[in-house]
Amino acid sequence: MKPIRLTARGYRSFDVLDYAFVDGATAVTGANGAGKSTLIGAVEVALFGPRSRSLEPLVREGNGEMQITLEFQHAGEFYRVRRGWKKGKSTLDLERLDLADLHGVPDAPSQTWAALTQGNAAVSQELIEQIIGLSRSTFLASCYLAQRESDTFTGAQPRDRKRILSDALALDQWQTDCDKVGADRLAFERQVTEISSKAGALAERARQAGPLTLEAGDLRLAVDVEAALAADAALAAETNAQRAHELDQADTAWKIATATVAAARAADTAHREKLSAAQVARERLDGQATDLVRLDGLDKERADLLVTRDLLTAQDAARTEAKRRRTELASKADSLAESLSRAATITTSQAAEHLRLTNTLATIEDGTINHCDRCQQPLPDEARAAAAGSLRRELAEHTAAIARHDDDVRDVEQRFAAAQDAARTITIPDPPEGLADVDARLAQLERVPVEIATVRERIAGLDAQVAAADTDEYRERARLLSYELAEAELQLSAIEAPAPGAADTARAAALQAKTQADAHAARARAASERLAAVTALLEQAQTALVDHQAAELERDRLHAELDILTRLEQAFGRDGIPAWIVESQALPQIENEANRILSRLGGAISRVELRTERETKTGKVNEALDIVCLTDDGERALETFSGGEQSRAEIALALGLVDVLQSRRDTDLRYLALDEPSGLDSQGTEALAEILRERAAGTVVLLASHDASLRDQFDQSIVVERGPSGSRVAA
Ligand SMILES: Nc1ncnc2c1ncn2[C@@H]1O[C@H](COP(=O)(O)OP(=O)(O)OP(=O)(O)O)[C@@H](O)[C@H]1O
Ligand SMILES: [Mg+2]
Repeated sequence: MKPIRLTARGYRSFDVLDYAFVDGATAVTGANGAGKSTLIGAVEVALFGPRSRSLEPLVREGNGEMQITLEFQHAGEFYRVRRGWKKGKSTLDLERLDLADLHGVPDAPSQTWAALTQGNAAVSQELIEQIIGLSRSTFLASCYLAQRESDTFTGAQPRDRKRILSDALALDQWQTDCDKVGADRLAFERQVTEISSKAGALAERARQAGPLTLEAGDLRLAVDVEAALAADAALAAETNAQRAHELDQADTAWKIATATVAAARAADTAHREKLSAAQVARERLDGQATDLVRLDGLDKERADLLVTRDLLTAQDAARTEAKRRRTELASKADSLAESLSRAATITTSQAAEHLRLTNTLATIEDGTINHCDRCQQPLPDEARAAAAGSLRRELAEHTAAIARHDDDVRDVEQRFAAAQDAARTITIPDPPEGLADVDARLAQLERVPVEIATVRERIAGLDAQVAAADTDEYRERARLLSYELAEAELQLSAIEAPAPGAADTARAAALQAKTQADAHAARARAASERLAAVTALLEQAQTALVDHQAAELERDRLHAELDILTRLEQAFGRDGIPAWIVESQALPQIENEANRILSRLGGAISRVELRTERETKTGKVNEALDIVCLTDDGERALETFSGGEQSRAEIALALGLVDVLQSRRDTDLRYLALDEPSGLDSQGTEALAEILRERAAGTVVLLASHDASLRDQFDQSIVVERGPSGSRVAA
């Protein structure tokens, strides 16, 4: 880190500050309170912030805000830190100069700053310290000896000194590396454990190769034997099955031949039976012909009887008709007689009525009757005349009616006489004789036509039977059937009937052989499957053997790596390289430089020594960094020396520390500021100025003092003045 430019507004005694640092040793002089410490301390404030929690105490009195900006160079890059305070709010910005804008462009008109952090001040602060490789305490103990604080290193606790030294030497990196290597070592240890157990398991599997090889041999043999046995049994099964099949076929052929003989015999027998049946039919035909003659006679008698019965029936019907006619005429005559009887009665009553009417008329006409018959009232003459008229008309009508009745009576009398005459003319014939006998005989002969038809039919059947058995075809058929029978019997005699159960026996033998073949095949299969499994296991065991060897090689390799890592962890660990750096490098370097400077500054302390380990009363070794001062009289603690003597030692040790820091490759520390180191006499101050001048090449070295004569000892100087508008820097 090398500061380039510092600007500020409203910062402590400065209203405005703009200071460009220059390489080389610069004396910063000015009166008390002029603002020297403010100027130099601004670098610490810019880089690390205020020591108190807030920037507020640093705000120039009367100002409402403050801004401080430090541009610095580090490892070839330019950075800018800006801190501000306004209305209780602090800001922090870290930026890097975009060099691409500047390269090849002399007097670039504008600079471009790229923000590195935003927002979170703690992160920005961490980044700043990471970039410059310095913490505040290292900064204060080495390159900035603040006013009245030059004992930051010497006055610190031994443990803190160790930490400052560790910071200065960036020993944390070793611890980080150590942790990393430790993690790697643990991972390797785990791998070693894993590979060891894997190797153990593989060895165990590999050991199985021997027994598996033996078992595989046995199994191969078993597979071959069982397969051969299975093949034999299968052949036996096939042979027996074939034999059973042949026996079945022979049995079927014998059965067919037997059935053929039986069928031929049956057909022949049936044919012969038909022949004898024809013979019987021929014999029966004669009987049937006799029957037919007898029946024909009966049928003729029956026909004659039918004619006779028709005749007798007609006679009987005529007799019945005559009887009916006579009865009918008698009944008609009876009816007419009754009519005549009723007519006689009517004639009598008509005569009586006629008499009554005649008498009545006479009484009316002669006046005997002079009142009404019905009402018994006296009748006037007119009424008697009317009644007489009416009676006369009635009498006339009655007389006509009597005449008509007499005509009717005469007609009836004629018809009665005619009926009686007709009845007398009718003769009733005698009933016919023998009709019942004829009917009885006809009843006996009733079925004769049917019997004739039956006999005729039978004769036709017997005729056909006889005729059929008497043809050439029939005879040829008989010859053929007897030939077929003979042939079938010949064939049957040629076939040997198989022994009963022979086929079943062969079948059972085939089944048994098949079962045995299956059992052998199953055993062969099982042995084969086991062989496959054993072969796979064997391959695994052989692979395991190879893997085991590889695992052992890998384990050896890991062991070797682990050894390296273990050694690296020890080397990176606290007692390793860091201890070596501290003990063998840094401390001798600091001591040498400090003692070199001490010898030039002069004083009672001739040498300082830094001791790292201190044994406690209990025998424990404490991590510490003690400073021991040696004089011509012996060694003493630093605090026992005078202020000036202590100041010399402090300056010497600080410069020794800076030396170590500057020799660290990553720090690029090119800044050294001493603010009024106290207690130096003029000779000491002169020596210090000389020492600083020697270190100033390419470095910004500032020495602040209110002693204006100091300016003479430096090539360049600035004066800080305090005016009414605040401090200002003058050349
Ligand atoms: N916040 C502030 N506002 C205004 N002035 C301040 C503020 N803080 C400090 N000062 C003043 O700034 C002045 C400069 O102080 P500084 O310590 O820089 O002086 P100096 O030049 O180093 O003096 P010395 O030689 O005594 O060490 C002092 O007078 C101090 O009181
Ligand atoms: Mg001061």
